[in-house]
Amino acid sequence: MKIAMIGGGYVGLVSGACFAAFGATVTLVEKEEHRLASFQRGDIPLYEPGLDALFTEQKAHNRLTFCGNIAEGLQKAEIVFIAVGTPARRGSGYADLNYVYAAAREIAEAATHDLLIVTKSTVPVGTGRKVHDIVKSLRPDLDISVASNPEFLREGQAISDFMNPDRVIIGLDRKTHDKGEKAKALLTALYHPLDHLGSKLVFMELESAELTKYAANAFLAMKVTFANEIADICEVTGADSDEVHHAMGLDPRIGPDFLTPGPGFGGSCFPKDTQALAVTARKAGTPSQLVETTIASNEDRKRRLAEKILTFLGDDLTHTRTVAILGLTFKANTDDMRQSPSLTLLPLLHEAGVSLRVYDPYGMSQAKALLPREVYFAPDALGALKGADLLVILTEWEEFLHIQPSELQASMKGRIIVDYRGLWKNKELPSYGFTYHCIGKKTKLP
Ligand code: UDX
Repeated sequence: MKIAMIGGGYVGLVSGACFAAFGATVTLVEKEEHRLASFQRGDIPLYEPGLDALFTEQKAHNRLTFCGNIAEGLQKAEIVFIAVGTPARRGSGYADLNYVYAAAREIAEAATHDLLIVTKSTVPVGTGRKVHDIVKSLRPDLDISVASNPEFLREGQAISDFMNPDRVIIGLDRKTHDKGEKAKALLTALYHPLDHLGSKLVFMELESAELTKYAANAFLAMKVTFANEIADICEVTGADSDEVHHAMGLDPRIGPDFLTPGPGFGGSCFPKDTQALAVTARKAGTPSQLVETTIASNEDRKRRLAEKILTFLGDDLTHTRTVAILGLTFKANTDDMRQSPSLTLLPLLHEAGVSLRVYDPYGMSQAKALLPREVYFAPDALGALKGADLLVILTEWEEFLHIQPSELQASMKGRIIVDYRGLWKNKELPSYGFTYHCIGKKTKLP
């Protein structure tokens, strides 16, 4: 089956490479010439474990090719996926759909045969219907139907999420003459390689599929935020958040996942999707207080990180305090800095006159453009620790687990550690003279 994938961002790249691995012939359309050139050279301008190898293999087998315009990408394609960005509009929080509608218009203008258009980008409820109206009005001569196939990929494990999905959500336009049956048959054939996993395809109304994506992400963001608030209560009551979250998760109605407290959620999805859902609900006259409160609680948490760090530093302003930060990306196993807690914390510490030394295994190049230029970007973790009065762990990179307490003693000047990921909770740091604050637990003094 030949498909076109419009958009060479994170979703388009991962989905295109995985559909090629399913045996489809994929043409990925990327308009940004430098990005297109890097794809054609075989370079991927983002870090996602396993994507490099998959991309190279599919490209070598000619199942994955690239072009710069939709007309070329559509040649002989039966399905065209729209995987362009839907960024949150500054201020309003609305999902910016200009790229989606522009792609729909270009598809309609370029189409030479009947087509199925599938929105893979996260789009507000009703977008698929609007895409259909745009295309129908431009090309009444063709039978072009729409479907929704939102992705549930987690950065850092996107390939395995695509290859072993909990479910594949497919929204069908049942207002068509065939009630979406042709679209259903095409997508069933495309996802055929997953049949060995059992029936993963879940068919529903177009609008239901679009809302499912937002509802799932907003619920996960709410669950994480709840875990963060329980961790704060643990810190002041002497309860242990690991024990509380473990015991909560034993109830199958709650489940153990997404109960690990952290510095606040970030990334390209939770913040954008919770905003868009809150705006959609409010605009529809049914505001979601839970989603709005989740957003507010998360933003407030990121701001309070700085207050906590400054409190731990104390009020001795006779000398410049130095803080080391390990981890800048919004979570481990990605180079993505979007909405990362570090982007809130570090400017606030900088404004308070704190000297910052930072290190991240993969996020440094993106972070350099986003953080104050006075920040010192260390070549490695120990370089960041040098002379620091206080150390903050923001991202749970595996390599930070291997730093020894003796190395901390030798590198740092001060003896305060604030661990927002609970990474070092088993290192017995107080016995090495450190005041160790672990998220969700009472601070342990030497
Ligand atoms: C998320 C959804 O998981 C995925 O299904 C959707 O397709 C895209 O958005 P992603 O944004 O890549 O994926 O990251 P995820 O692993 O979900 O983490 C989101 C945020 O929550 C991160 O900032 C992470 O640090 C935080 N988080 C997650 C926690 O703080 N605790 C947890 O237990 C889980």
